[in-house]
Amino acid sequence: MRRAALKSLLVALVARTAGGLLQPPVCFDLDQDVSVDQQVCWELPANYTYELGSLNATIDGRLRTSSPFSLPCFSNYNGISVDRDEQLCSQIQTNYRNHAFRVDSFSSSMNPQYETCIATGSQCLLDWRNPRNPEANNGISCELGGVAEFYIDVHNPGDVQAAYLFAAKTNTPLSIKNTGHDFMGRSHRRGSLGLWTHNLDAMTYHPAFTPESCDDSGSFRAITVGAGVTFDQVYKFAHDNDVLFIGGYSQSVGVSGGWLMGGGHGVLSPVFGLGVDRVLQIKIVTPDGEYRTANACQNPDLFWALRGGGGGTFGVVLESTHLVEPNIPIQIANISYNPAPAQQREFFEILVNDSVRWAGLGWGGHANRRGLVYMNPLLSPTEAQESMGNMTAFARSHGGSVNFNTLPWYDFFERYITEEQAPVGTLVTLGSRLIPKANFQTEAGRAQLVELLIKQSAALGFPNIIPLAGTPMSRLGVPGETSVTPKWRSALWHLVTTAWWNYNSTLEEIRGTYGRVHDMVQEMRKVAGPDSGVYMNEGDVYETNHEEAYWGENYARLVQVKRKYDPLGLLACWNCIGSQGAAAFPCYPRLDV
Ligand SMILES: Cc1cc2nc3c(=O)[nH]c(=O)nc-3n(C[C@H](O)[C@H](O)[C@H](O)COP(=O)(O)OP(=O)(O)OC[C@H]3O[C@@H](n4cnc5c(N)ncnc54)[C@H](O)[C@@H]3O)c2cc1C
Ligand SMILES: *[C@@H]1O[C@H](CO)[C@@H](O)[C@H](O)[C@H]1NC(C)=O
Ligand SMILES: *[C@@H]1O[C@H](CO)[C@@H](O)[C@H](O)[C@H]1NC(C)=O
Ligand SMILES: *[C@@H]1O[C@H](CO)[C@@H](O)[C@H](O)[C@H]1NC(C)=O
Ligand SMILES: *[C@@H]1O[C@H](CO)[C@@H](O)[C@H](O)[C@H]1NC(C)=O
Ligand SMILES: *[C@@H]1O[C@H](CO)[C@@H](O)[C@H](O)[C@H]1NC(C)=O
Ligand SMILES: *[C@@H]1O[C@H](CO)[C@@H](O)[C@H](O)[C@H]1NC(C)=O
Repeated sequence: MRRAALKSLLVALVARTAGGLLQPPVCFDLDQDVSVDQQVCWELPANYTYELGSLNATIDGRLRTSSPFSLPCFSNYNGISVDRDEQLCSQIQTNYRNHAFRVDSFSSSMNPQYETCIATGSQCLLDWRNPRNPEANNGISCELGGVAEFYIDVHNPGDVQAAYLFAAKTNTPLSIKNTGHDFMGRSHRRGSLGLWTHNLDAMTYHPAFTPESCDDSGSFRAITVGAGVTFDQVYKFAHDNDVLFIGGYSQSVGVSGGWLMGGGHGVLSPVFGLGVDRVLQIKIVTPDGEYRTANACQNPDLFWALRGGGGGTFGVVLESTHLVEPNIPIQIANISYNPAPAQQREFFEILVNDSVRWAGLGWGGHANRRGLVYMNPLLSPTEAQESMGNMTAFARSHGGSVNFNTLPWYDFFERYITEEQAPVGTLVTLGSRLIPKANFQTEAGRAQLVELLIKQSAALGFPNIIPLAGTPMSRLGVPGETSVTPKWRSALWHLVTTAWWNYNSTLEEIRGTYGRVHDMVQEMRKVAGPDSGVYMNEGDVYETNHEEAYWGENYARLVQVKRKYDPLGLLACWNCIGSQGAAAFPCYPRLDV
């Protein structure tokens, strides 16, 4: 019945707006040159409380009012005195940079600038470098910042359908949050109704899975996860079922959300493909109100768009099913060195000189300031050690350290991940480029790349270098089957640059940091080529011509799919397909003023 109501409402609205997009209800004319706080108004439509109440009644009371993650540490909320909660505050201080703790909170963001409204300074942050620093909270007013005032704790398709109906009736934008890892803050939006998929935590192992309606296409060993499941959960579950799940390099990134829909790389991707190459089926409620199954045999246009077009765009995913591999042992190379400037150049040269060969052998991993931790599911221990010969000789001759190991994936994950994964709870932004294999194949190209890495280290600190295979070895990763930019398929590295700021940095300083990352990305673009591609989940927030960089030739078709399934534009996020432009997102600082 609710679906019928939504359908007829949507039909009426589409007719009225002639297919155009509705304007969201908040006001946006924000002039960042003036001191601003009051100028961003989060205007709620008349009769909103009534509508919220009836929404809540249709979803069994799962509508929640949000409050800032760090509020328990403050004695003032929105200018009004409140009681601090010492016990909760102490827990927050202890766990400020803890993955599991943050993932359980709707209002938290792993990159907490998106808990704030950066452009207005409305915030409620602790000092991430020292969460017990009293200067961050004593006598300071806490504000909701960039977080949605209300959210639904999503349990079933009906919850999402009710949210679409509410959004269309009240002209309220929607936002979708899973774990809050998005580096562009796309899972938070002030003024929106949030949809939190965190509590969809079911997992099923299928010894023989056939995508629905694909009766004659064979069956696969697979795992189905609810949209709230994170990598630490699925890796453990896969290990318990003696299979290998190919996913990201983090405990708390979600399997089915932004990671999957944006591409989804992991350290085993050079051999086993990206997340989009391995997903077999997605269940999703599209903004036209339908609960759909998308796979190769049903809604194939949607299935294609969901494999690269990005999260928060085509609907709310409730579950996804992924191909798994035999639980084979993995070779691990942990090689570190003393990153003095003289040694840094040599380290970069070896990385650059040996990358084509390593990619051909199936190595993946991360290289960072400490050295590299690479893994390989194809080689024997002896072959692994031999192939890393130049790097181990380098490390040994400069007092570095070399450790080789052979472990099942889950043991590797448990032992290495906490020291190797990217930190959370820090105010950080990044930019990146997919570096084509061709850059590694000429002497001039290699030399240029080494100079870029040295420049990057000097300007912004050591880059994060993530190798990808230029030509995926498995049958996976066929260009055209997914909607990620085809540049993934000819890239050898995903090269990332990062920069941090402080809890009390001024808007000017924050803009400066985003700007420095943006400028470094232009240097990276010069080397990778003017039409080089970018991973849409780890791009510069201000990526120039992001449509081309994230999706390349797939962009136009993605826009068509977006219009088909979301004719009213109920879902929008920063630099997503159908994103409605920067003016719709007034909390992002403008770099051009
Ligand atoms: C510490 C850290 C480590 C990372 N490691 C990796 C890595 O190893 N490999 C890699 O590829 N990337 C990695 N990333 C990037 C990561 O892929 C992106 O941040 C991704 O957007 C996270 O998706 P999420 O759903 O977990 O996060 P969220 O921030 O909750 O969501 C991200 C986007 O997806 C949308 N979305 C979320 N849930 C749903 C849903 N159920 N239905 C529809 N849309 C949804 C949101 O609206 C948002 O647009 C890392 C990021 C961080 C901060
Ligand atoms: C609010 O909306 C309801 C249902 O549409 C209506 O019955 C009620 O009169 C409205 N109240 C106001 C104050 O507009
Ligand atoms: C929604 O209803 C539940 C149950 O009645 C209630 O506990 C909750 O506070 C309501 N949510 C909002 C935002 O009013
Ligand atoms: C070491 O590097 C040289 C020069 O780049 C290369 O020719 C050789 O194959 C590498 N050897 C090993 C064992 O990695
Ligand atoms: C990797 O090597 C470094 C340097 O020896 C060491 O500090 C670190 O603990 C190693 N990592 C693991 C998980 O063994
Ligand atoms: C890397 O290769 C270049 C030639 O392309 C060579 O000049 C340089 O010495 C090599 N570096 C190392 C550390 O092997
Ligand atoms: C920011 O906070 C630090 C630590 O609390 C303090 O030393 C510094 O002076 C502050 N900077 C500004 C600009 O307020």
